[in-house]
Parts: sequence; structure tokens; C-alpha cells
Amino acid sequence: MRVFVTGGTGLIGSAVVAELVAHGHSVLALTRSDASARAAQAAGAEPVRGALADLEVLRAGAARADGVIHLAFANDFSSPEALANAVAEETASLATLGEELIGSDRPLVTVSGTPVVPGRASTETDPFGTDGPVGGRSRAVMAGGALASRGVRSTAVRMPRTVHNHGTGGFAGLLPNIARQTRISGYPGDGSQRWPAVHALDAAILFRLALERAEAGTTWHAVADEGDRVRDIAAIIGRRLGVPVEPVPVETYGPLGPIFAADQPSSSTHTRETLGWEPTHPSLLEDLENVQP
Ligand SMILES: NC(=O)c1ccc[n+]([C@@H]2O[C@H](COP(=O)([O-])OP(=O)(O)OC[C@H]3O[C@@H](n4cnc5c(N)ncnc54)[C@H](OP(=O)(O)O)[C@@H]3O)[C@@H](O)[C@H]2O)c1
Repeated sequence: MRVFVTGGTGLIGSAVVAELVAHGHSVLALTRSDASARAAQAAGAEPVRGALADLEVLRAGAARADGVIHLAFANDFSSPEALANAVAEETASLATLGEELIGSDRPLVTVSGTPVVPGRASTETDPFGTDGPVGGRSRAVMAGGALASRGVRSTAVRMPRTVHNHGTGGFAGLLPNIARQTRISGYPGDGSQRWPAVHALDAAILFRLALERAEAGTTWHAVADEGDRVRDIAAIIGRRLGVPVEPVPVETYGPLGPIFAADQPSSSTHTRETLGWEPTHPSLLEDLENVQP
């Protein structure tokens, strides 16, 4: 398949591009800078120059492709306005990509987050979380999913909050930097809250499987570790950095505090059984052994 990928130079996207190329697909990669274009080319993709706001570029990229994987996001948490702009940009870009595919039965694979369900691991059938400042992201993905009834083989891959590779990435990947600055490897609450995680290379395999085989309107969970206790995560980081491991006030993490404090295990049983996805790369706790002082 010729696949148009946005965000193909990111942590997850670069793994997705490598996975697609390794499995005989060709990749058109949206790239917004010379450096990204060079990286995409080196990975075996054809760069398509443009940014998420260039809707005509997105339309043309999707028109040239047999399928689309949409991963780009501006990730600008510097202010509520900046975040709202990033969400609006993503919403418009996803709508444009979806429109281009209507009536073609071509796949549109989108990315979202695993939902938080109090007291149990969330599953693929739980609804998308639409609250809070990034709730609009879920609504954009749900609108993409609704295109299943209009001839788009749309499917959503929900990621745990920590997608890691070589000890970096995702929410857990922020903790070593905070620990370096504060000289404490902290955790909010009693640290018994559980976070799900996946290695980027395992997530990439699931994106390929969803592209190749998922039915229209389906949702999948790229969850390898159902839930690692936050104090176990902090303990490894503390040992690697040689700093004490201690409970800290939730405010230490600013606006991310409530997210860090939440117990949010998630399951991928349905995904594994249906798509035959089996993660094989290091777990988060194994991967954090790569954190360097
Ligand atoms: N990492 C995680 O733990 C995690 C967890 C849940 C969900 N997700 C979601 O998964 C997706 C990919 O995440 P990631 O960790 O791979 O992100 P990342 O490493 O930050 O990469 C972001 C990618 O998007 C591109 N991009 C950003 N803004 C763009 C714009 N305005 N126009 C065009 N390209 C743009 C970047 O291109 P450049 O190379 O030019 O910068 C890069 O390829 C995102 O939607 C993210 O929110 C990630």
C-alpha cells in the first residue's frame, strides 16, 4: 500500500514509518522542515512538504495514497490558548483527510488516548474521554470514526499516556527530567496508581495491523503494560539518577498533576485476540533502565 503518514518523524511516527517500509508499504510523509524531510527520506519515505495547517497539501497527500495514518500533533501545552489552537488545527486536518477518503473504502488510522475508568482497566469498548482541554482531540477522532458509514475504513488506535523508546517518551519520560531538576524522584499520592504503557516499536506494529486489517469504525488499544505502579516507575528513576524516591504534592506537576495522580490501567485483550498483536519489546520498567544520570 502507498500510505500517507502525518507525524512520521515523531517518536511514534518514525517507528510507524520504519514498520511500514519493512513490510513492503511505501510511505508519503508530511514534513514541515528540511530536517524532517531529510529524516523521512533517510527512513525510506517520500517527503511531502507542508504542515498540518496546509489543508490542500493534506488533501493532495491523501489523494495520492491507498491509506492514511494521522499522528501529527503540535503538542503545544505552553498556554490554554496554544493548546486550543493545536486541537483546532488537528481537528481541521483530520476532517480534511477524512473528506478526501469518503466513498473510497480506503483506511484512515487515527490516534487517541486510552480512557480512564475508575476502579478497573479500560477496554476498547469504553467511550472516548471528551472532557478537559484535550477533549476536542477525542471528538475529532470520533468524527473520523463516524466516516465508517460514508465509505472510509476509519479506525482509531488508542495509546496509553506513556509511549516509550529507550527510556524516553510519554508522561513517564517527563519524570527523569523533573527528578534531575528537583533532585527527588517523586510521585503524587501513595504511588499505587497504575499507568499503562507501550514501547513505540510495539505500537508501530499495531498501527500497521490496523491499517492492513481493521474493520471500519473500530477502536484498538496499544497497551503492552496494563498498569505500572507510579512508585515503581519513580523507584527505577531514583536509582538510575542516584536521587531519593519520595511522595510529593500533586501540585509539583502543575496542570499535569491530576493526570499523574490518576489510576488509569487499560487492557488490550480484545486488540490482541482480534488483530493478533503481541508486544515483544521491553516493558516501561525495563526500558527505564536506559535512563542516564
Ligand atoms: N508519546 C506518547 O506517549 C503519546 C501518548 C498518547 C498519544 N500520543 C499521540 O500520538 C501522536 C504522536 O505522538 P509522538 O509522541 O510520536 O509525537 P512527537 O514525537 O511529538 O512527534 C510529533 C510529530 O508531529 C509532527 N508535527 C507536529 N506539529 C506539526 C505541524 N503543525 N505540522 C506538521 N507536522 C507536525 C512533528 O514533525 P516535526 O518532525 O517537524 O517536529 C512530528 O513528526 C500525537 O498525536 C500524540 O499526542 C502520544
